[in-house]
Amino acid sequence: PPRVLSGIQPTGNLHLGNYLGAIRKFVAMQDEMPCLFCVVDLHAITAKLVQDDLANQTRSIAAAYLAAGIDPERSVIFNQSRVSGHSELAWIFNCVARIGWMNRMTQFKDKAGKDRENASLGLLAYPSLMAADILVYRATHVPVGDDQKQHLELTRDIAIKFNNDFSQRIAASGLGREIPMGEEVVNGYFPITDPIIEGPATRVMSLKDGSKKMSKSDPSDLSRINLTDDAEAIARKVKKAKTDPDALPSETAGLAGRPEADNLVGIYAALAGTTRDEVLRQFGGQQFSAFKPALVDLAVESLGPVTAEMRRLLDDPGHIDAVLKSGGEKANAIASETIKDVKDIIGMLRD
Ligand code: TYM
Repeated sequence: PPRVLSGIQPTGNLHLGNYLGAIRKFVAMQDEMPCLFCVVDLHAITAKLVQDDLANQTRSIAAAYLAAGIDPERSVIFNQSRVSGHSELAWIFNCVARIGWMNRMTQFKDKAGKDRENASLGLLAYPSLMAADILVYRATHVPVGDDQKQHLELTRDIAIKFNNDFSQRIAASGLGREIPMGEEVVNGYFPITDPIIEGPATRVMSLKDGSKKMSKSDPSDLSRINLTDDAEAIARKVKKAKTDPDALPSETAGLAGRPEADNLVGIYAALAGTTRDEVLRQFGGQQFSAFKPALVDLAVESLGPVTAEMRRLLDDPGHIDAVLKSGGEKANAIASETIKDVKDIIGMLRD
């Protein structure tokens, strides 16, 4: 059966890229199928073990989920470390995946930098834990931004290898099911997950440099709009955003070779729930001096209520903790079934 799982790391401020590339999509997916949304605190410690105030960072992602409109009655909101199945399945996937697969991950190469020998083993195995996050719920759909594409391909590779390596045991255990795989249907245990990377803002770029992705770790705060920014900060950052001297083109093709213009038009389209084409029909021929104020108004109007609700929720951490606890129980009920099945397939004795 179809199911969504996605997650966000509790490291640093949430920004417009996280909101448009992920959180807004999460909200929309709730109408399509059952959903689980995780705060991935185990992933948060892979790059830097000791995190500043991990507990409050975790609460603040949960608050963003709730403030954006994820309904805890319909969707499961929880933090990853609460559900031991993630770590258990990740270990098994560490034995399914190959070191070479991990070494090829661009995010690992970026984060590990030059001194790869000194990166944590957890940073190398990060994608294996991510595959476990998804597959411990046998999730079929994963809404993410474009930067997670390679990790989701690896998740598919892990599912395929597990299904292949254990195909006889899966069949013998009676735990197999029909798994759609491209055009064919095979017998297997884990589904082959579909990444959902759609819409005008799958890769929101830095406001200061159209060739760099908007990121929590950019040292310049002017490079991103944080979910905690007030109207004044949003106005200042958009006003200072890098652009080129030309007017906006009247068609999308005219954005080619103009990364900053393309980015701002994409952000506008995503906030307005429309397309770049539609935005350019409205603003084509106008200067940035006219477009930027319109973008500020739209951003303040869409983000303002979310920010305010996030602040309100964070005043009552007890409520957020209760949501995470109850979500953790629901998640655990599903995850522990998968762990049982996987142990049976592998041949591990269990209670
Ligand atoms: P993280 O915490 O870096 O980012 C959370 C989500 O925000 C998206 N995103 C962006 N989208 C558009 N433009 C941007 N500039 C931008 N920056 C970030 C990310 O693509 C992501 O969807 N590995 C994941 C967390 C994770 C996960 C999972 C995701 C762990 N387990 C299982 C899905 C399923 C990460 O680091 O996301």
